[in-house]
Amino acid sequence: MRDDTPGARYMAYHDREDASPDPELTLVGHGTPAGEYLRRFWHGIALASELGDLPLAIRILDEDLVLFRDLSGRLGLLRKHCAHRRASLEYGRVEERGIRCCYHGWLYDIDGTLLEAPAEPRNSPLYRTVCQGAYPVREYKGLVFAYMGPPDLLPEFPVFDTFDVPGVEMVPYTCSFPCNWLQVTENGVDPVHSMFLHTLVNGPQFSENWGILGDVSYHENDQSVYCTITRRVGDNLWFRVQENLLPNMTQSGAVHEMDGTHIRYFGRNTFFRWCLPVDDCTTKVVAWACFGDRADPARYNNPADIERLEQGELFDRPAVERQRNPGDYEAMVSLGPIVVHGKEHLATSDKGVTRFRRRLRRDVRALGQGREPRQPTDGGPGPIPTWSGDTILRIPAVAGEDDAVQAKEKLARVVSVLSEGDRLRGPERDTFITSRLRQLEAELSETQRLSA
Ligand code: FES
Ligand SMILES: [Fe+2]
Repeated sequence: MRDDTPGARYMAYHDREDASPDPELTLVGHGTPAGEYLRRFWHGIALASELGDLPLAIRILDEDLVLFRDLSGRLGLLRKHCAHRRASLEYGRVEERGIRCCYHGWLYDIDGTLLEAPAEPRNSPLYRTVCQGAYPVREYKGLVFAYMGPPDLLPEFPVFDTFDVPGVEMVPYTCSFPCNWLQVTENGVDPVHSMFLHTLVNGPQFSENWGILGDVSYHENDQSVYCTITRRVGDNLWFRVQENLLPNMTQSGAVHEMDGTHIRYFGRNTFFRWCLPVDDCTTKVVAWACFGDRADPARYNNPADIERLEQGELFDRPAVERQRNPGDYEAMVSLGPIVVHGKEHLATSDKGVTRFRRRLRRDVRALGQGREPRQPTDGGPGPIPTWSGDTILRIPAVAGEDDAVQAKEKLARVVSVLSEGDRLRGPERDTFITSRLRQLEAELSETQRLSA
């Protein structure tokens, strides 16, 4: 508790208690609680375009690996150091079937099977005893994905509804942050920062209306923590849903030219990303940027604008410019290599962060007690339903009524439409939600008109 006596000010000298990062949630190596939990899911790990004719040395979850495409077109993800005498397979030769180590020519298949040890007898017991460590990999829409958990628990690859929105082009991209995965992930459950970092403190980085201090609330279901922001923009109510899918996926509505002034029914993503832990202090974002009528306008489909929509800024800027106009990169990285939770003062506006951590901790501990986490695909066949995006409805305010209370009630109606839609899949669900939102707008604006 704060001490208000005069001597209690200028307290930096006394503020020296050691606090260390939360090891249960932040550390990612083999055998750590969060590291084991993260290994139960598929993760985006690279762009398919990063793979040429040479193997790619890649570090994921504190493990050194090589990713390659063999001459048959199959992807392999093997431990970096050869099982023989530990030479790096990044210097290996990609062959018709697998990869051959540069040092003594051992050839490994994509699943780690030793196919040839040319200096050894043909009946060597090595063929039965040696297996190079390998992980399952797959390619999807320009990204490469890996599963690094126990092979007998390999989950189905999750395909979310936002992976296939008609008229939306998904452009793969990646960027890197010298800090822990959790603080990059948590940026997605902190919608309040968009009002301050991106608008009120540093000037509008997207549009001025991002600075409207709307109503922020939070929702959860089996797979996600959702943040909703409801803003009044003239006669419109702008409902924005940001979604964090456990453990490290985030998707969010449009950014470019998004200001709540144009009607939109169930707009969808500007990006879908994995905050992939490289090691405890490095994060690689592996993502798609989305362009089209229900995402960001197609004319922003260029590298500079992809960086800007992802992090609200461009990377590699001069230090002074970064100080004058900081964006997500400066905010997240400046928390330190691994943010120390014990030194924070979480407040009422941090409910998204506290809920996400509570949820994550619960699932991490459950796994520690032997209960496997729920997979996104456990809800049944078909594209996995999600909520993220922008809906903007024309619902004028009623003079004399508390508009904030009214807006909260309207949000509850929008959320119930999204939730009701979860029993459907694919285009049927999309059509249902879109048409129900149109009906809702007509109904609510008529009610407003009659009560005006
Ligand atoms: S170190 Fe790889 S074959 Fe010898
Ligand atoms: Fe941001």
